[in-house]
Amino acid sequence: MEFSVSHERHLIRPTIENAYPALAESIDHDLTKRKISSEIDLHLGFHIKKIEETLRTKALQINPETFFDEWGPLLHDGAQTWVGLDFQILQCTYHDLKILFNTIKPKPGNKIVDLGAGYGRMGIFLHWYYPLTSFLGIELVKERVDEANRIYKELNLQNKKMEVGDLSKIDELPAGDFYFIYDFGSEEHITKILNLLKNEKGKILIVKGRICYNLMQKDPHWGEGFKIKKLDDVHLFYL
Ligand SMILES: C[S@@+](CC[C@H](N)C(=O)[O-])C[C@H]1O[C@@H](n2cnc3c(N)ncnc32)[C@H](O)[C@@H]1O
Repeated sequence: MEFSVSHERHLIRPTIENAYPALAESIDHDLTKRKISSEIDLHLGFHIKKIEETLRTKALQINPETFFDEWGPLLHDGAQTWVGLDFQILQCTYHDLKILFNTIKPKPGNKIVDLGAGYGRMGIFLHWYYPLTSFLGIELVKERVDEANRIYKELNLQNKKMEVGDLSKIDELPAGDFYFIYDFGSEEHITKILNLLKNEKGKILIVKGRICYNLMQKDPHWGEGFKIKKLDDVHLFYL
């Protein structure tokens, strides 16, 4: 029998790759990775499509004359929550999370914070591969957080949680060893969080996506970061 790839000395259990064999394969094609992640989400019982459709309908009820880039701000007090986009595009795939965490190798007890966490996929990934880490996902859209916490409860996740929070309104970051940002909102809101991160000396920031990275490139404080091999748009910054 095989065991999970990490923290195996601490917790013996069959690997999740027995349940989802596609996760054991190395896949380069983005669409295939997304398709597999979407199948896993469905198998876990997520109702992502339905929830996103409800959000879209709500926005159109408020103002039928609007386009998709206006729906998030319309529903969420000006914040860009990407309502109307395919949520599989907005989440880091399970395969990419494997590559990412294989590079940063969190230790038991480390805390990972996802700033703009969607449906909390990272927490589920960590539960499978790095069960002794802790995870906090902060997300503005309550419907996404409630759905994530429903699945977390069913999977009996330990030390992993999702919370509703507005990153544009916080003045202090939650404690963490690794912070992750995947283009969570408007440039103004991302800049605010980047300024708070400047005080988190000794921690690691992981940035996925062009909006955040391009903003950082305009500020000499950040430098270029370290690009993660095999991932197109993920960079590490030592704070
Ligand atoms: C691109 S998704 C990334 C999801 C997740 N981090 C992942 O990689 O799978 C960005 C998320 O940030 C959320 N977001 C946008 N503005 C926010 C804010 N002001 N506070 C908290 N979350 C926010 C959006 O609702 C969306 O779910």
